[in-house]
Amino acid sequence: MGIIKAKKLVHEYIRRDEEGNAVGINRALDDLDLDIQKGDFVAILGHNGSGKSTLAKHLNAILMPTEGTLWVNGYDTKEEEHIWDIRQSAGMVFQNPDNQIISTIVEEDVGFGPENLGVPTEEIWRRVDESLRAVGMLEYRSHSPNKLSGGQKQRVAIAGIMAMKPKCIVLDEPTAMLDPDGRKEVIRTITELNKQENVTILLITHYMEEVIGADKVIVMDQGKIVMQGTPREIFTQVEELKKYRLDVPQVTELAYELRKSGLAIAEGILSVDELVNEITRL
Ligand SMILES: Nc1ncnc2c1ncn2[C@@H]1O[C@H](COP(=O)(O)OP(=O)(O)OP(=O)(O)O)[C@@H](O)[C@H]1O
Ligand SMILES: [Mg+2]
Repeated sequence: MGIIKAKKLVHEYIRRDEEGNAVGINRALDDLDLDIQKGDFVAILGHNGSGKSTLAKHLNAILMPTEGTLWVNGYDTKEEEHIWDIRQSAGMVFQNPDNQIISTIVEEDVGFGPENLGVPTEEIWRRVDESLRAVGMLEYRSHSPNKLSGGQKQRVAIAGIMAMKPKCIVLDEPTAMLDPDGRKEVIRTITELNKQENVTILLITHYMEEVIGADKVIVMDQGKIVMQGTPREIFTQVEELKKYRLDVPQVTELAYELRKSGLAIAEGILSVDELVNEITRL
């Protein structure tokens, strides 16, 4: 069994009016099946409201299934007594770095998670060191987080999660509030954690360019998984993606248009280099 496995997972939100009366139901996850293997880097795409954040919240046992079952690291998320095992197995990183940083000194912030888990002090400092080094922020250990850039703050937030030694990190649009440099820093950091520490990564994003380095891409629509494959397999299906109101990376789109206009360019171009090669070849 994979590190994350969902079987017919359903989540229904109760819709309420201003007085709090139930007026309807939003089925945000609809019989969703999922199996993610340890060490995978999985990107999750989907139009607004497709259920991505709802799924992320289930992985951290913030939300419970209405129907069906979800296992995280072998624990059924409905089992109350394993809630901390689950939260320790799958760490969450959210969109806004400012909401995730609580301390006034970087290293204290990173040590906060393991301290809460009751890790002995010496071990906490070892983990703080190791995690800050892994995200390239060791030299900022005694700085104040509010002086850091958005990208640096997100890397500190990621270090805080790493310090709890999770098997899996779930990131819900971690780059949405960052500038292009900050976005690159964060993606580089999580890619390295995946490759070097073998941490399973689930990256929810609206930026197509961030998906290219993933092992696997999942496309969600209306609470279901509607496409699954390698980035190349997914981005080859331009029309299908448009059906789910998604774009492809700009260079893929350009290659697709050139191909449609009659040039014999290979399908599923993902980078500028690949496109240049194709054009030179012609
Ligand atoms: N607290 C809530 N109460 C009622 N309905 C909700 C609640 N949270 C989300 N929903 C609904 O559930 C569906 C899925 O929402 P979700 O936030 O999971 O989507 P998403 O894919 O993360 O979207 P986005 O890309 O905008 O972040 C949407 O129809 C949304 O309106
Ligand atoms: Mg969301």
